Amino acid sequence: IPHLHTQQFGKEIRYEFQTTSTQIAAHQWAKEGAKEGALVVAEEQRSGRGRLGRSWHSPPHTGIWMSLILRPKIPLAHAPHMTLLASIGVSKGIQRVTGLPIQIKWPNDLLINGKKVCGILCELRGEQDRIHYLVTGIGINVNTMETDLPPELKPIATSLAMELGSSVHRASLIAVILEELELIYTQYLAEGFSVVRTEWEKAAGMLGQMIKARTTQGELSGKALSLNENGALLLQTEQGVVPIYSAEIEW
Ligand code: BTN
Repeated sequence: IPHLHTQQFGKEIRYEFQTTSTQIAAHQWAKEGAKEGALVVAEEQRSGRGRLGRSWHSPPHTGIWMSLILRPKIPLAHAPHMTLLASIGVSKGIQRVTGLPIQIKWPNDLLINGKKVCGILCELRGEQDRIHYLVTGIGINVNTMETDLPPELKPIATSLAMELGSSVHRASLIAVILEELELIYTQYLAEGFSVVRTEWEKAAGMLGQMIKARTTQGELSGKALSLNENGALLLQTEQGVVPIYSAEIEW
């Protein structure tokens, strides 16, 4: 990766031409003792995974499919902070390089004009109150063309190249994203969740809007208010303010 100005993030990289999922490779590497900031990058994933058990379309050479290993010394209950933090870092990186307006959809989808351009998947291993390590998976449709998208994704997905009308150099984008991620991560460890909350609330496209949240307990509608200290989304419903910890959001 050229021009990488980070202390730790991406200093050690495993590059795979083809893999099942960079998440699987990163978990394996973390168990073998990978250091904080170690990164797995793949040109193609055969079974890329998304949130909520879904698969992630990861064709060769057009996207950024990568997983970052982190070892934050924070309580297990604060793990959701890392998801929000990751979406801020990635969104800032993309904006710095492309100038495109990125919206963050809670908890961690990045959208351009309402279409998904990036998904983030944080998986952790821990016990009791300790996090052993965290694998932050980042999937960005970079140089994907409309014709590369499977029909079911066409109405809901986009890519940086489709929005810009020109292609983007993936390694340079990775460098900038790693810088932004390291910056917000370091700030978060030093100052706590308030930095993340402020940045997230600035970048979220949904605060103040009426949204629908599909949770495992059913569907809830209300106005998106803000985040609480655990990173849950606060929803003003007819029954009062409800924190949402995990859901599918629509607005
Ligand atoms: C989502 O929006 O559901 C999250 C998608 C996360 C995709 C990335 S691509 C790199 C890493 N490896 C995977 O298998 N998934 C994540």
